[in-house]
Amino acid sequence: MTERARPADAEALDRVIRARRSARRFSSEAVSRDAVADVVEAGRQAPYAGLSNRGTTDFRRFFAIARGSAVHALLRERIRAVVGEKADAFAAAQADPDPRAAGMLAAMRGIAEKGPPPWDAAWLLVVAERRGFPPREGQALAHALENMWLEATALGLGLQLVSAVEDLSDDDAACAALGLRTGEFLLGACLLGPSADLPRESARTEPELRLTWFA
Ligand SMILES: Cc1cc2nc3c(=O)[nH]c(=O)nc-3n(C[C@H](O)[C@H](O)[C@H](O)COP(=O)(O)O)c2cc1C
Repeated sequence: MTERARPADAEALDRVIRARRSARRFSSEAVSRDAVADVVEAGRQAPYAGLSNRGTTDFRRFFAIARGSAVHALLRERIRAVVGEKADAFAAAQADPDPRAAGMLAAMRGIAEKGPPPWDAAWLLVVAERRGFPPREGQALAHALENMWLEATALGLGLQLVSAVEDLSDDDAACAALGLRTGEFLLGACLLGPSADLPRESARTEPELRLTWFA
């Protein structure tokens, strides 16, 4: 069988896709604003729900929040409060507790008691996508964050998603700190900085490949 020739771009992109991993610990090194701007630009390039945003150009906003800043501290504190409220509401709504939710509920209670795990990366990047009808902003945010993740990987930087920030989308104090009208945007976030962990070289085993062809 002849070798299939693959364009150099496909080879390079595959290397980045395979190298992308969740950073779990960050070094204390600084990250330049230029590098942050590259990562943000990759997020800006990601697709958006065109019909929902017709006639507007400001439907995606980025916030680069430095470690140690007041906004950084405020968002952490609001996550602690909001995740606690959500855990209580979730537990109260379950007449018959679902054992599959037990692990997540315990993690939420941990955040409510102790706050979220340390955000030790140089930057917390929050992305806000204006909510539309039908709601597609979650999908749009996922595209933006994935583009940012691939760009960060290509730059040799670590990135960790901080999905709990989505729970601040309807929080007055968090939205006010970002200069947003409460509830107008859905929020997503990640930490960005040099990873303190060695790159994982193992092949990705999960999820297993389940591809169904109808050809
Ligand atoms: C919707 C979604 C939310 C996630 N939230 C978090 C999070 O809050 N914190 C975190 O460390 N990782 C989070 N992750 C990352 C996953 O845990 C991670 O991608 C998975 O364990 C596979 O590891 P890898 O990214 O190194 O391949 C999230 C991933 C997705 C898709």
